[in-house]
Amino acid sequence: MMEDQKSLALRQRADYTYKFNAKIGRHGWLRLTPAYSVKIVEEIIIAHEQSRRVLDPFCGTGTTALSAAYHGHEGVTIDVNPFLVWLAGAKTAHYQEEDINRAEDACYTALRLVEQRAVEPISVPPIHNIERWWDSKTLSFLCLVRAAIAEVTKKNTPDRDLLMVAFCRSLITLSNAAFNHQSMSFKSNQQIMMEMEVDLVSVFKDDVKFVLRGASENPSGTGIIISGDSRNSSDVVDGLFDLVITSPPYANRMSYIRELRPYMYWLGYLVNGRDAGELDWTAIGGTWGIATSRLAEWKQAVDHFNSKNLSDVLDRIAHADNKNGVILANYVAKYFDDMWAHFQGITPVLSQGAEVHYIVGNSTFYGQLVSTELYYAEMLTSLGFNDVECKPIRKRNSKKALIEFDVIGKWKNG
Ligand SMILES: C[S@@+](CC[C@H](N)C(=O)[O-])C[C@H]1O[C@@H](n2cnc3c(N)ncnc32)[C@H](O)[C@@H]1O
Repeated sequence: MMEDQKSLALRQRADYTYKFNAKIGRHGWLRLTPAYSVKIVEEIIIAHEQSRRVLDPFCGTGTTALSAAYHGHEGVTIDVNPFLVWLAGAKTAHYQEEDINRAEDACYTALRLVEQRAVEPISVPPIHNIERWWDSKTLSFLCLVRAAIAEVTKKNTPDRDLLMVAFCRSLITLSNAAFNHQSMSFKSNQQIMMEMEVDLVSVFKDDVKFVLRGASENPSGTGIIISGDSRNSSDVVDGLFDLVITSPPYANRMSYIRELRPYMYWLGYLVNGRDAGELDWTAIGGTWGIATSRLAEWKQAVDHFNSKNLSDVLDRIAHADNKNGVILANYVAKYFDDMWAHFQGITPVLSQGAEVHYIVGNSTFYGQLVSTELYYAEMLTSLGFNDVECKPIRKRNSKKALIEFDVIGKWKNG
């Protein structure tokens, strides 16, 4: 089939997006749009049951590691974001019955403290325009619950982790942020009015129940979550892997920090906007705050990946009839420099015949199609991967050109 006919036959497939994960136990603990569907991961894992060690260099919410662990494998995963490292750790942990009972008791003790106002609430987190997120009654409730959880549990314990995950769920349920777009938007006044009478305590109790139900379903395998930079994978992981399943950041200026901000501020992983920008600068494809202004001075690496197709596209973006052309061309060029560093750095940890799957979408800038999948394929081929293929898996929206691919390759050298 010609490429165009193939894309016409593709559907948007909500089952291949984060929406599919909502009801699947731990996979549904927190809803994050950049997460990919556990269904995509499961299909690949099932087709490679003999693969014992699965690597995901871009952990996000830990979908791959958790899936691999549920299949009895070892799922190892890396992320630069400390909140996601914590979350994926909580999602893949093995919980004993006592941990779950302790969390349940702690939930009731915490809510008693809240009811009796017997705990000092935490300060309102420094989130910009916080009143857009929560009304003052909800905000006071959240500050009390957050303080009460800290009061009745100890640091780094399973019961605290489980209650904090539930707290994260509640703070989004109780917020005015709607997740009906690729990035969050705010609910209309009418929607807010309809939902005004929510019982705050019941929301939290329900979320605790949901999280504890997931916690009782322990995986038979293991998840290992590593805080690190996947441009240097071989420095941060041990041993060899026979399967890589991952969805790296896309070259589409989507900022993970933007969506994670509420969780990160409430849990103390961020204390100001500057730190958010710094963290996004360390992330591939990051574009939040300071990251954007740094792109203006950014220079392509001397040993960047040489691709005529990519240079042509960068040139067209830079010369687009728009004042931001150069900065966006830099953004795309840096993205591919970083991914090139990543691909080079991952080969030393692959076993002979290891298969890699990069789930990635293309993007457009000023009408110029950035065929990320093709540049990945060029990079993998030039590194010595065999059978490199770009398999289209779904349309990303109604636009014909925006497609998600599984870029596959087989490592030969070991
Ligand atoms: C598309 S998300 C992955 C989503 C994941 N598949 C899931 O289901 O949640 C990409 C992730 O890559 C992480 N990331 C970006 N740059 C990184 C780097 N240099 N090293 C490790 N992780 C990085 C981001 O923090 C983000 O969590």
